[in-house]
Amino acid sequence: MSAKEVILSGMQPSGELHIGNLEGALRNWVRLQDQYEMYSCIVDWHALTGDYEHTELMKERVFQLAVDYMAAGLDPEKVAIFIQSDVKEHAELHLLFSMIITVPTLTRLPTYLEKKEDKGLDSYGFLGYPVLQAADICVYNADKVPVGKDQEKHIWLAADLAKRFNTLYGPTLKEPQALFTKIPTIPGLDGRKMSKSLDNHIAITHTEEETAARLKKMFTDPQKIRKGDPGRPEICPVYMLHQVYTPEAEKVIAPPCRSGELGCVDCKKMVSRNLNEALRPIREKRVVLENNKDYIWDVLRNGATRARTRAQAVMEKVRAAMKMDYYG
Ligand code: TRP
Repeated sequence: MSAKEVILSGMQPSGELHIGNLEGALRNWVRLQDQYEMYSCIVDWHALTGDYEHTELMKERVFQLAVDYMAAGLDPEKVAIFIQSDVKEHAELHLLFSMIITVPTLTRLPTYLEKKEDKGLDSYGFLGYPVLQAADICVYNADKVPVGKDQEKHIWLAADLAKRFNTLYGPTLKEPQALFTKIPTIPGLDGRKMSKSLDNHIAITHTEEETAARLKKMFTDPQKIRKGDPGRPEICPVYMLHQVYTPEAEKVIAPPCRSGELGCVDCKKMVSRNLNEALRPIREKRVVLENNKDYIWDVLRNGATRARTRAQAVMEKVRAAMKMDYYG
């Protein structure tokens, strides 16, 4: 076995990927793939918790997310890229974990309360969402999980479940840790958090023209109405994009915005150009990959084989620890 630490990363196949997902998560995974033994999962079962009515969309969404993973630079030679439901061991560990966690622990989680409100979700599966996530992680005995701050409690719960399992049945599972990295904040077009459901996003799949057209409508400092008015980059969502996509934005954008010399129209043109340039290689790679359907499905099939090997070994230990390895 390799001495590298193990990372498990995952994303839901819930539709087109936007630049918030790309800059906040995927680019980070790509940086980590050389240092760690990495498993990158497409969590189709998790996507069912919110969208169980539209399973006919799943196959295409899974495919497109696999394309996104690879277009962003995940290398299937280094990383096991796979579909969650291809590795049934996730479901087995989820069931075992469900015995050792209380319902109030789950109903108190902010992620549960918020989504229940938003979407009126009240299913058994939705309640168990973080338990399934804990199983995704612990079934690989993963050391680290790269996530955003919003997932902090879920990783804590996974560590807690591993610990509880170990206390009950003897040391078996690793307690995983969240791997937070400096993630640039990508605001949506309206200044709120970027999200596909708010339709304030820039998708990887948008064309350069669509991207520019959407950015034209982006919110700016409301006090800067026309060129010549002094602007406040520190409160402007367009400036936040410049900080990600424009080298030395604090020198080339902020001062002329403040003085009024740079108007919002030109400022948005500059951000469109830089953002489109940064996305161009990914968008081009996307088109090539999308046209290689068989290759993508092969990558996923092979990724699942690799993931399954590790997950099965961990599950054998789990069953043995519980004295439920009947034929061993
Ligand atoms: N809950 C995660 C999210 O919304 C998705 C996810 C499911 C996940 N299983 C995971 C993330 C395992 C990391 C590890 O982003």
